Amino acid sequence: MSTNSFVYDHSLAQIYGIANPLGKVGLASQHRAGLLTRAAFLSKRSGPLTSPVKRGLLIKEAFLCEGVGSPPPDAPSMLDPLPVDTYLTTRDRLEHLTMKAGTSCINCHSTMNNLGFPFEMYDTLGRVRDKERIFKTDGGFSGIELPINTKAESKDIESGVIQISDAIDISSRLSNSDKALSCFVSKWTEFHLRRSPASGDGCLMNESLNTIYGKDSNQGSIQDMIKSTIRSEHFMNWNYLSK
Ligand code: HEC
Repeated sequence: MSTNSFVYDHSLAQIYGIANPLGKVGLASQHRAGLLTRAAFLSKRSGPLTSPVKRGLLIKEAFLCEGVGSPPPDAPSMLDPLPVDTYLTTRDRLEHLTMKAGTSCINCHSTMNNLGFPFEMYDTLGRVRDKERIFKTDGGFSGIELPINTKAESKDIESGVIQISDAIDISSRLSNSDKALSCFVSKWTEFHLRRSPASGDGCLMNESLNTIYGKDSNQGSIQDMIKSTIRSEHFMNWNYLSK
């Protein structure tokens, strides 16, 4: 969630705004920090416009192991078209449609939207931007660019409500979040056991979590956790024929 190294590839270099490097290079740390700030994640969860909903939903489901449920059948599946001569950012349009107090929409959407808003600093391909180009309903550029707002408030990452400033901030918060680490361990356990973790797997999962946190003043890591799983009795005696 914090690395900014990148192995040179011409097309990706254009997205990341890198001139002409050779080999492994570092991306600007004020713009990129780990997996969630990479073009693959950002572009896959965008259409003609960015989708804070889809970006936020992935974080909620894959990084925090929490669901939001399916949208009601009568809920729209895309933003309303912009009225003629009205210019609004994607964020403003989404807030207007899904975050009005007293609607059924806000319960689900305030969670997803707020986890996705920090990533508005990247366009649909994952390029850094501080302004959004506003397109008319017929697809033409309106000539208007509006400032991006990446600030958000979330109660999903830590036990209380936190203020998030942008994508770099949310990545760092997630990498230090107890909830996100427990979720990671549960996904890892599911991966190496090849089944969903059950109540009897508590000790195994605790051990993995403790390895990530580290002992005394030695900070642990994901690499330590993987090593400790591989060295565990359970893993050594694992018989793939019996699953
Ligand atoms: C139970 C949770 C839930 C409720 C309630 C809900 N939605 Fe959603 N909504 C979702 C999810 C999940 C998605 C993402 C679906 C996907 O991945 O395609 C979504 C997607 C959307 C999108 C598309 C966003 C995009 O960028 O693709 C719009 C627009 C939307 N909802 C509007 C609404 C409105 C308006 C309401 C209230 C009338 C509403 N939703 C109620 C869960 C919900």
